Amino acid sequence: MLEIRGLVKRFGDLTAVDRLDLTVPPGEIFGFLGPNGAGKTTTVKLITGLLKPDAGSVRVAGFDVATRTLEAKRCVGLVPDEPFVYPKLTGAEYLRFIGELYGVPLAEQRKRIPELLAMFELSSWGGELLESYSHGMRQKLVIAGILLHGPRLLVLDEPMVGLDPKSARMVKEILLTLARRGTSILMCTHILEIAEKLCGRIGIMISGRLTAVGTIEELRRQARGESGRGLEDLFLSLTGGHEYSSLLRHL
Ligand SMILES: Nc1ncnc2c1ncn2[C@@H]1O[C@H](COP(=O)(O)OP(=O)(O)O)[C@@H](O)[C@H]1O
Ligand SMILES: [Mg+2]
Repeated sequence: MLEIRGLVKRFGDLTAVDRLDLTVPPGEIFGFLGPNGAGKTTTVKLITGLLKPDAGSVRVAGFDVATRTLEAKRCVGLVPDEPFVYPKLTGAEYLRFIGELYGVPLAEQRKRIPELLAMFELSSWGGELLESYSHGMRQKLVIAGILLHGPRLLVLDEPMVGLDPKSARMVKEILLTLARRGTSILMCTHILEIAEKLCGRIGIMISGRLTAVGTIEELRRQARGESGRGLEDLFLSLTGGHEYSSLLRHL
């Protein structure tokens, strides 16, 4: 569903994404982990056609994002780290706009938009302008929009940031349900527990390079045979974070 080959993105002297290869098959939730500045958001922007790569290619559902941009974009749903929504639309108008953009039949829009607003506890906000929504409410609306058009590939950049515990739980369940129905999901997250609970495979990116990929168990084995430890220790040892823990001991 998602095929990335030799992807490179440079900003001046900085190589933000360095020869990335990654395939995410239908139905997989792939967790994209890494310290701040690793290149995760840049990768998300390359996948969704918001940035152009310096080398390599991205294919979504077989469509090359560089040459078959429109077809590729139709198959992708994006939950960006900063949910951008037009401030002068209401919640219901935003969902109708998404429905039109992705060609959702009008009858289906009329039925599903109120259902989606209710599901995210936004019914009483459906007529309010988005400029009055909190970060978490915008995040929920963007996710509602994605459920409305049902993309084959879903890309989420730190989706749990700003969500209250109940909404975060609902989003987790939504992701598992979508994956069971065959949607491919790529999720950037700092929350290790979420990665551990939801993701089939995890990739750890450091300075633009995917340094480790596998199931949690495979990564545990890779982390110098230090098995039986929590994901946090594993993450820190793979990203060299143990230097920080020794620093912390001196505080
Ligand atoms: N538009 C840009 N111009 C210059 N540098 C950028 C730009 N976007 C990202 N970077 C740099 O690329 C690196 C990777 O950033 P990013 O992909 O946002 O990391 P992450 O999402 O993993 O925290 C960082 O060093 C960041 O400063
Ligand atoms: Mg980021």
